[in-house]
Amino acid sequence: MAAPNFNNRTLYHLDNLDVLRGMNSESVHLIATDPPFNKGRDFHATPDSLAAGARFQDRWKWDNDVHPDWVDKIQDDWPAVWSVIESSRESWGDDMAAFLCFMGVRLMEMRRVLREDGSIYLHCDPTASHYLKALMDAIFGGKNFLSEIIWQRTNAHSDTKQGRRQHGRIHDVLLYYKKGSNWIWNPIYTDYDKEYVENFYREIEEGTKRRYQRGDLTAAKPGGDTSYKWRVKRSIGGEWAADLSDEWKSPKQGWEYKGVPPYKGRYWGFSQDNMREFANEGRLVYSRNGMPRYKRYIDEMPGVTLQDMWADIKPTQGKERTGYPTQKPLRKRRLLHALSEQTRRLLPLRPRAHA
Ligand SMILES: C[S@@+](CC[C@H](N)C(=O)[O-])C[C@H]1O[C@@H](n2cnc3c(N)ncnc32)[C@H](O)[C@@H]1O
Repeated sequence: MAAPNFNNRTLYHLDNLDVLRGMNSESVHLIATDPPFNKGRDFHATPDSLAAGARFQDRWKWDNDVHPDWVDKIQDDWPAVWSVIESSRESWGDDMAAFLCFMGVRLMEMRRVLREDGSIYLHCDPTASHYLKALMDAIFGGKNFLSEIIWQRTNAHSDTKQGRRQHGRIHDVLLYYKKGSNWIWNPIYTDYDKEYVENFYREIEEGTKRRYQRGDLTAAKPGGDTSYKWRVKRSIGGEWAADLSDEWKSPKQGWEYKGVPPYKGRYWGFSQDNMREFANEGRLVYSRNGMPRYKRYIDEMPGVTLQDMWADIKPTQGKERTGYPTQKPLRKRRLLHALSEQTRRLLPLRPRAHA
């Protein structure tokens, strides 16, 4: 590992190959790169927008756009990368090979500057994602591939182009690789979907209106104080509750008492002391036969771990939109959250809300 020789929170408005070449090896925790996609066209910002006048070219020609030094470097030092480039030339043509040369030299530098515990997201789309996957495998090693994230960029739309006979293109691809075996990873959680919440967290607590499910309090294996009968009581026709003061020993008129064993062949998952704590905290709820269950509130659950299909980040809109043609939404910064608690604090995600 080396100390960074560049300024923190600084935007370098330069060719990134020059910047990368000046950076110390193994000095970067995370790379999130959103390069050209090889779309075969130029991009211009919307006139009269904040980004008006900005443009970039995303067309690649072997003769104009590939520097001979890049070819020498790749051929000499990275024969596997050269094979990927050559095979793209055979299956697609010179333009793809030129684009992959541009990408190859930069990704090689990116690998060099990454720390052993670092990782990289490469944003692309299906135009070149499969060639880029092969390029990344050649540079970072196939075993360091972690995820291919499918990001649904836009809602389904009917394509107005006359005569188009293909599926609507609504997703981008993010390839995620680690450098070494001990990469930094903090899980991210997202909201449960409404259907899941309604099916699995059916109960709503009176008063607080908190949604919960009834959790099983029994266990398959014994362990300490787990074979007792849980004492419960109720007034005739009333609801079961814990008999915490052993009222059953001198029963009151009009009350019913019983000791409830765990389900047949099972044990309690908690000691009587734990169960009393649950009862005092109002965490127990009873079925008709007096069996206690644990109130598992949805608002205490972490959510679903982030999966590799993202449909919850819509394109930039409103004030966030600058008019830059390939601008990515701020919510995509969730990439950074996997990295560290520090980034998590600097860039808090929208708080989760449960229906
Ligand atoms: C797909 S766009 C990404 C835009 C950006 N992520 C955003 O949210 O606005 C690709 C970007 O790569 C930039 N680019 C192209 N060649 C570059 C190079 N050699 N060094 C640095 N940036 C480059 C282009 O100017 C363009 O802004």
